[in-house]
Amino acid sequence: MAEFVVGKTGDTSPLLESMPSKPTLSQADFARRVVGVMSEAVLILNVDLSIVTANDSSYSLLGYSREELLGSSFSKLFPEASAWVLATLGRTVVHGDEVKCKVGDGQMVPMSISASLLPDEDGGQSVVVVLRDLTSVHRLAAQLAVAKNELGQRAGELALEVSRRKRVEEELRDAKSGVERRLEETRSQLLRTERLATLGTLAGGVGHELNNVVMIQHLCIEEAKDLVEEGILDQGYLRQLEAVEGHLTNHARRLLNLARPGPDYAEPLDLRTTICDTLEILHGSGRTKYVSVQTELPDEPLMVRVNRARIEQILINLVGNAADAVADIQDREKQVRVLASLEPGGDRVHCEVGDTGSGISAPDLERVFDPFFTTKPPGRGTGLGLPVVKQIVESYGGELSVFSAVGMGTVFSFHLPAATEAPA
Ligand SMILES: Nc1ncnc2c1ncn2[C@@H]1O[C@H](COP(=O)(O)OP(=O)(O)OP(=O)(O)O)[C@@H](O)[C@H]1O
Ligand SMILES: [Mg+2]
Repeated sequence: MAEFVVGKTGDTSPLLESMPSKPTLSQADFARRVVGVMSEAVLILNVDLSIVTANDSSYSLLGYSREELLGSSFSKLFPEASAWVLATLGRTVVHGDEVKCKVGDGQMVPMSISASLLPDEDGGQSVVVVLRDLTSVHRLAAQLAVAKNELGQRAGELALEVSRRKRVEEELRDAKSGVERRLEETRSQLLRTERLATLGTLAGGVGHELNNVVMIQHLCIEEAKDLVEEGILDQGYLRQLEAVEGHLTNHARRLLNLARPGPDYAEPLDLRTTICDTLEILHGSGRTKYVSVQTELPDEPLMVRVNRARIEQILINLVGNAADAVADIQDREKQVRVLASLEPGGDRVHCEVGDTGSGISAPDLERVFDPFFTTKPPGRGTGLGLPVVKQIVESYGGELSVFSAVGMGTVFSFHLPAATEAPA
């Protein structure tokens, strides 16, 4: 770093000594020069605050000529600044307060002011005042304030955007979990459908085999008729064999029907007749032997266009379940009730099977339509009755619903589309 030597000779380095000598400055001259190149206005005042000296920057900064400035009263030209000077002169050096100065062109300019009381060469005292234009500082501060304000606004907008994104993310998460739930439901529904389809195929196979057996039995019955004619076999046995054949044929037909998808062959039929026929089959099979089964049916035909075997299937399953439910009841009548009626409007037929049985607990109620859900001992229930009933009812555009109260009983109900034709 360059080092200035002021007002001293003789103790310079050998290198400097070898250089051509320059005139040296007195300390006062050097200080004057320094003050001369400062960008601030530096004024030297008498203690009565008349201006004695000013550096070059004073004229440009304060807008007065040398003649206007030197000898003038600082108090008159800059009253606010001089009041500040008078108030602070007791102290040695005071820096940096802000005052307003009216400059040569009449403008009020903000300036930072520092003042100091210094002894002068004559043993008296002078006042040194340094003024610095703060206009650009103010402009920068104003720009900073605007930038800060903008930054604040941007920060607010950013916070809004962040919260909006969070909300969208949450909505997306909800939608995703909804889709996943529906996917899971669809998947389990597919599984159920697939199981039922497998079961249908299985039932079809069994029905087919049963049909083959029935055909063999039919041939045997034909031969047995000869034996009856010859008096070797009793007519009664033959009738029993024929009844069994009819029974097996029906079952084989039902099993084959089960294998067919959807409500295949539909015919107009009177639901009252189908109900009565089915109850007879059930009674004949011993399933409702110890149960009182009542019907509530209208006097007029109750026409529906459906597949007879499928409706029989619905009734056999529901009445069979109802009979099982009342089997162990001791404290009340073991009752099963089947009722059917045309709904007001005449578009739909309502049918329900109710019982006074055990009822179904709430957790079981949620699962009764699940394939293979059963509370019956092995060999007595497969848990497929209700899923099959549900599927058949739904294939006719209906809905199977259940109402149950533990210790009181259960009601299953469904609708079928009403038909206008007469039975075939
Ligand atoms: N009327 C009813 N009263 C009480 N419980 C019932 C009734 N109907 C059905 N359930 C309950 O629902 C379960 C499922 O019935 P579903 O008909 O599907 O199968 P299952 O009767 O057990 O067997 P399957 O009908 O295949 O022989 C039954 O095991 C039983 O617990
Ligand atoms: Mg059942």
